[in-house]
Amino acid sequence: MFLPSRVTVRVPATSANLGPGFDCLGLALKLYTTFEVELLPVDMAHDREPLVEIFSAWGDDPAIDALPTDHRNLFYQTLTRRLADLAVPVPAVKVRASIGIPPGRGLGSSATAVIGGLLAAEAIAGHTPSEKQRAGLVDAAVALEHGSHSDNVAAALLGGLVVTSWDERNSAWYAVRAPLPANLCAVLFVPVFSMDTIAGRELLPGQYTKADAVHNLGHLALLLAALAVGDLKGVGAAMNDRFHEPYRARIFPQLPDLLAAARSAGAHGACLSGSGSAILALTTERTQEVASALARAAQSLNIDGRVVIAGLDHCGATVEIDQCKPAVEINSSSREEVVLRCATCARHFPLERTDYRCACGQPLDVALDDVGTAMDGHAWRQRFDERLSSLHTIDRSGVWRFRELLLPLPGVAPITRPEGQTNLYPAGRAQQCNGHGRVGEFTGLDRLWLKHEGENPTGSFKDRGMTVGVSVARWLGASAVACASTGNTSASMAAYAAQAGLRAIVLLPQGKVAAGKLSQAIAYNAEIRQVAGDFDRAMADVERMCLDEGIYLLNSLNPFRILGQQSLAFELLQQFAWDVPDWIVLPAGNLGNTSALGMGLLRAHRLGLVDRLPRIVSVQAAGANPFYQSYLDGFSSFHPVKAQTIATAINIGDPVSYLRAKSVIQATNGLVAQVTDEEILQAKAAVDRVGIGCEPASAASVAGVKQLVSRGVIQSTERVVAVLTGNLLKDPDAIMLAHQATRQTLTGVS
Ligand code: F0G
Repeated sequence: MFLPSRVTVRVPATSANLGPGFDCLGLALKLYTTFEVELLPVDMAHDREPLVEIFSAWGDDPAIDALPTDHRNLFYQTLTRRLADLAVPVPAVKVRASIGIPPGRGLGSSATAVIGGLLAAEAIAGHTPSEKQRAGLVDAAVALEHGSHSDNVAAALLGGLVVTSWDERNSAWYAVRAPLPANLCAVLFVPVFSMDTIAGRELLPGQYTKADAVHNLGHLALLLAALAVGDLKGVGAAMNDRFHEPYRARIFPQLPDLLAAARSAGAHGACLSGSGSAILALTTERTQEVASALARAAQSLNIDGRVVIAGLDHCGATVEIDQCKPAVEINSSSREEVVLRCATCARHFPLERTDYRCACGQPLDVALDDVGTAMDGHAWRQRFDERLSSLHTIDRSGVWRFRELLLPLPGVAPITRPEGQTNLYPAGRAQQCNGHGRVGEFTGLDRLWLKHEGENPTGSFKDRGMTVGVSVARWLGASAVACASTGNTSASMAAYAAQAGLRAIVLLPQGKVAAGKLSQAIAYNAEIRQVAGDFDRAMADVERMCLDEGIYLLNSLNPFRILGQQSLAFELLQQFAWDVPDWIVLPAGNLGNTSALGMGLLRAHRLGLVDRLPRIVSVQAAGANPFYQSYLDGFSSFHPVKAQTIATAINIGDPVSYLRAKSVIQATNGLVAQVTDEEILQAKAAVDRVGIGCEPASAASVAGVKQLVSRGVIQSTERVVAVLTGNLLKDPDAIMLAHQATRQTLTGVS
């Protein structure tokens, strides 16, 4: 039997009851737990504890800490039992559970484990159940979930609002999806304390009065009808229960006040979610107000917890089956050998630490000391050169071609377009053959090459780091990724997240992102949050948000992005047939690219791929120049600045990778330069007019080259590479500005 290499099941949270619909109504919410099942080769079958690795999107939560990671884990149990029912031998697996739904809060977390296990087993057995067949799985799920919560499991399977009831005649559960108003949204208040479902059930009476039964039946019918026709007032009237809320309020005395707070802030209705402890409020227009009212009420009632705005999930659990082989041989290295390290204080951390900051505050790097040392430079060059004629996507990628040096982790399946493989245009005065030599005339250089990273799939160099970052995000089991960005990172992350099926959140400095980049983020369906402030503010916000909400951070603070970007060094050297240019010049903002290029070059040198090092020049805009100022000061001090430059991509005053970049500039005998906006626009026009084109920040490298040649720092006969980091179309507004800037001064080039 041919088994997939990986199965990923994403299951929504569900809220049961909705007030009067006790034990028969479930609503799926856009809050997910993801289970990733990696099928291991037979030789990895032994010594597999923990079977289940658990990642919490909720930070520290005792209920999540208490989830078993061995064969008692509910997801694993369901998976193996269903496989046994299907007469499929249980393969060796490793499960990564990314818990986005905290247990014990009445949000269907055990239903997610059961539905996840069930659907993963079906996928491994080669079945893809249709919607109708899924409804038939409710029986199996209820049988496997000890609490018999047909309401939660059915909604998690089918999505939307689902009514379930036991059909005596056929001895099976019957599940039907009921209609919902399109603009309905859910606001949750999730207390830090959990409520045990079984104990909560014991609070309920054995019998109800006829009056209570009629009350609940009427309200349930009203609720379904009001939701079906979009009568939101009716929804409010209907969400009133006598079967469980009054009894459960005995152990949750603040419940009535919290429900009242949500209603008075404009919620159409509010109820205890399942058996609690979460509270669910249904809203349309007044979502933010309800969220704030719940937060305020909780504070005044002294209950700790978190308010979450969640849309309604309309499609139920999703299953993804990966047939592709991992890029790295499964036993070439073991995950435990790879650690994160702080370059400043040399402390080590496990890979699971995803805030990527050391306790001392500095960014963490992936420790790669021994990686690649088993082969000599000649053997590496031969291997990489052979791959140039391969037809495999990962060999054609200018990133994954160098995979052994970039990602020494077993079992990572690359999310790749592929990227890299960008052109290296000869553009010096002595290289006139292809018509680009006028850039050499502009800069005063005989031998100049433009390495156009704007030719990457989303139009910037960011794709090199992002293909690795997003692949690692998936490998770690993240369900959501986020970044702050001046535009290109967000465009790249949004595209790769879309490809990987991950939720993408981007924080952008309001009004400071070029049109092309913003349009990309919108097109690729990222959730866009405009930050009233600059990039540095957005960067601080995103780090905090990722920590608070357990979202995977994909800024260049993330060392896997830096690893991916190191491929620029390897690809460039390969394009030079492993000969080394004298200078490599690139624009600098957050300093991730300077760091990555430098680290890549230093590693290529250490591994013997090349026999000497080029000098790196990092070019900043004069209005955003904290690295340049620090360089002038011999790197003895560093002061953030308030950034202001026309080159929005590098409009950054407090770069995250300052220390990394400082050390590579020092190690390559490099230097830092600054150029004015005027110089940038003129250089951009020079690049544009030969038919290549680039965005303003990219032109900073060409402007820097020109300046350093005229100052005599770079000799006109030296071999220089200028990296163009972004595509011309990224910033259409700058095109006319550059055009105008040349009118007066650029006669030699026009
Ligand atoms: N060039 C372009 C076109 C960029 O988009 C960036 C950074 C840089 C140069 C500077 O690279 O930050 O690694 O020093 N753009 C980031 C972004 C900040 O959010 O897109 P760096």
